[in-house]
Amino acid sequence: MLDRRPIRRVLVCIPTYNERENLPSVVAGVRQFAPDADILILDDNSPDGTGHVADQLAAADPAIHVLHRTQKEGLGMAYLAGFGWGLERRYDALVEMDADGSHQPTHLPALLAAAENADLVIGSRYVPGGSVRNWPLSRKALSVGGNLYIRLILGMAVHDATAGYRVYRADALRTIGLDQVASQGYCFQTDLTVRATRAGLRITEVPIEFVEREVGASKMNNDIVRESMLRITRWGLEHRAGQVRELVASKREPRWHAL
Ligand code: GDD
Ligand code: MN
Repeated sequence: MLDRRPIRRVLVCIPTYNERENLPSVVAGVRQFAPDADILILDDNSPDGTGHVADQLAAADPAIHVLHRTQKEGLGMAYLAGFGWGLERRYDALVEMDADGSHQPTHLPALLAAAENADLVIGSRYVPGGSVRNWPLSRKALSVGGNLYIRLILGMAVHDATAGYRVYRADALRTIGLDQVASQGYCFQTDLTVRATRAGLRITEVPIEFVEREVGASKMNNDIVRESMLRITRWGLEHRAGQVRELVASKREPRWHAL
């Protein structure tokens, strides 16, 4: 259990890849609903010029910062770079948020309030009060099925382990140890959920409404799904093998004592 000091300095990390049209309104929403928070845009050299839009936003507002990355390396790698930036600068809490409007800034006050008593707050679609708007059935099936698989194989209590709208306390990220994280794509979300659970951190799920983007396209692809499936299955098998080892050891112990 971590010592939870009041959260004073918040950094909202927003990864972008071809989000030129979406970024300004999301940034404006964050400034409106979390006016004390700073913003860090993590752009992977988007061909559509999102990086330039980000620079213009930053030039007009000292609370907005931009990290320009040289190439598209995946959502996970962008967040790792952003978290490193924020931890170095001693922010108390780091927020993850998509740039495409799916994560509504109106939820920020509730997420940040919950972080006063938690190490990780997940904006969850799959707890009572949470929902998804405008997703095709295929994408919903992938998300619901993925979360069910994660709960079953990893024995986790979290309902939305793949969610991308979150608040981490800085100390939670330090406890998790980010230098071990290798997940490049969206699997990063599940990876950190598993690590937070294993580290005994306090995770709270707050219901959100996820609204599918109206402009641009999702960057989800088969490689991202494959990475998730492979890693989650491997963590699951390791977890179950560990349980079997514990069981065998606990059965053996009394006999040793009896000898
Ligand atoms: N810098 C950077 N690099 N940003 C990226 C990259 C990348 O390689 N890939 C995606 N992004 C950005 C997008 O520009 C957007 O702001 C955000 O990450 C989410 O990308 P989307 O492609 O819109 O994701 P999604 O809507 O399909 O998936 C969302 O829901 C998933 C849960 O089902 C995201 O929130 C995922 O994180 C989440 O796992
Ligand atoms: Mn999206």
